[in-house]
Amino acid sequence: MLAMNYRGPQRVRIDEKPEPKILHPQDAIVRVTRSCICGSDLHLYNGNVPDTRVGMTFGHEFIGEVIEIGSEIQKLKVGDMVIVPFNIACGKCHFCKQGLFGNCHESNSQATAVGGIFGYSHTAGGYDGGQAEYVRVPYADVGPTVIPPGMDPDDAVLLTDVVPTGYQAAEMGGIQKGDTVVIFGAGPIGIMAARCSWLFGAGRVIVIDKVEYRLEFVRNYASCEAYNYEEMDDPVVFVKKTTDWMGADVVIDAVGAEATGNVMQTITGRKLLLQAGSATAAHWAVNSVKKGGIVSIVGIYGPTDNLFPLGNVVNKGLTIRANQASVKRLLPRLIDHVQNGILNPKALITHRVPLEDVADAYHIFSEKLDNCIKPVLIPPSAR
Ligand SMILES: NC(=O)c1ccc[n+]([C@@H]2O[C@H](COP(=O)([O-])OP(=O)(O)OC[C@H]3O[C@@H](n4cnc5c(N)ncnc54)[C@H](O)[C@@H]3O)[C@@H](O)[C@H]2O)c1
Ligand SMILES: [Zn+2]
Ligand SMILES: [Zn+2]
Repeated sequence: MLAMNYRGPQRVRIDEKPEPKILHPQDAIVRVTRSCICGSDLHLYNGNVPDTRVGMTFGHEFIGEVIEIGSEIQKLKVGDMVIVPFNIACGKCHFCKQGLFGNCHESNSQATAVGGIFGYSHTAGGYDGGQAEYVRVPYADVGPTVIPPGMDPDDAVLLTDVVPTGYQAAEMGGIQKGDTVVIFGAGPIGIMAARCSWLFGAGRVIVIDKVEYRLEFVRNYASCEAYNYEEMDDPVVFVKKTTDWMGADVVIDAVGAEATGNVMQTITGRKLLLQAGSATAAHWAVNSVKKGGIVSIVGIYGPTDNLFPLGNVVNKGLTIRANQASVKRLLPRLIDHVQNGILNPKALITHRVPLEDVADAYHIFSEKLDNCIKPVLIPPSAR
């Protein structure tokens, strides 16, 4: 089959790989009809995530058709078209039972923090992902959810990650009616977090990035304010100033390890890899939230160490909430929101790229070329 193949930092290509097989009675094999490239893939692409092995296929955002099931599968049937959450979760452990599907204790033998994730290095279990024609899906009765009749596949594929993560970013912010919410990052996740912040009752939503076309996009898509940090002396002072010097009630980090904006962070986090990514946005978040406020971090940082402004967290009495999104927990509500027209995820898709051109898609998305917000890869069988 055709599959994306990681060859080392900034080098990916399309290759022939063996088709996946059922390895466990609870597996299913899915024929991919859409898969996306995510900001999280850029951390892998740039070599920022430990134990990202040459030969791996990335891709944790995909939908497709179930073509084979293991002997213990009871809910899924061959022929079902499914949304596959990016988290691989057993559904039975202590954490899954609490809805913490992103922190499953069984699906990732390499770690006790994050659960398994499709196509996300051996620190997330070493599973091959969906930027391919076929994928093996473990615990297939737990995560995969049948796509409701009539739902546009472009909406469905964004329910695997972008919509739940943006929504959970706002949810973890504990937004109260009238709150001012600041979001660092105007990628797909920041854009969706901005849109969802209104659903929780925000009174003012401000997005900060440096890429003008993304600022323009989020202004229109999420009806919010959007500003370029490169035009500010200091983004923290900017936020303070626009909130009567109090700071924002809630700040969301939707940037993670690839953050720009601070030379020392970039050198130590992205060039020398002395810390697990650049923590610039996390610093700005902690420093621009008001005392007693909440910082919600969905931007991803690799294991294990980061320079983090702990003193300010303590002295300001902050609440920090952070996690991988729990896709399966949120899906029923978010499917409703899409079907009722409250959320329109497919508007984020700017690029529809044949799977064979995966290397170009990574380049365009990574370099923010051609006004790219979200690229979707389409395998030959789905065209
Ligand atoms: N927690 C989860 O479950 C989860 C799920 C999906 C993605 N993520 C993470 O969310 C983050 C965003 O994902 P995405 O797909 O939107 O990525 P993206 O790369 O498309 O967007 C990131 C944006 O941040 C901007 N940026 C860089 N430095 C900044 C700074 N200092 N301040 C403000 N903006 C800055 C970039 O210009 C870019 O537009 C990534 O870290 C990704 O790994 C987390
Ligand atoms: Zn993703
Ligand atoms: Zn579990």
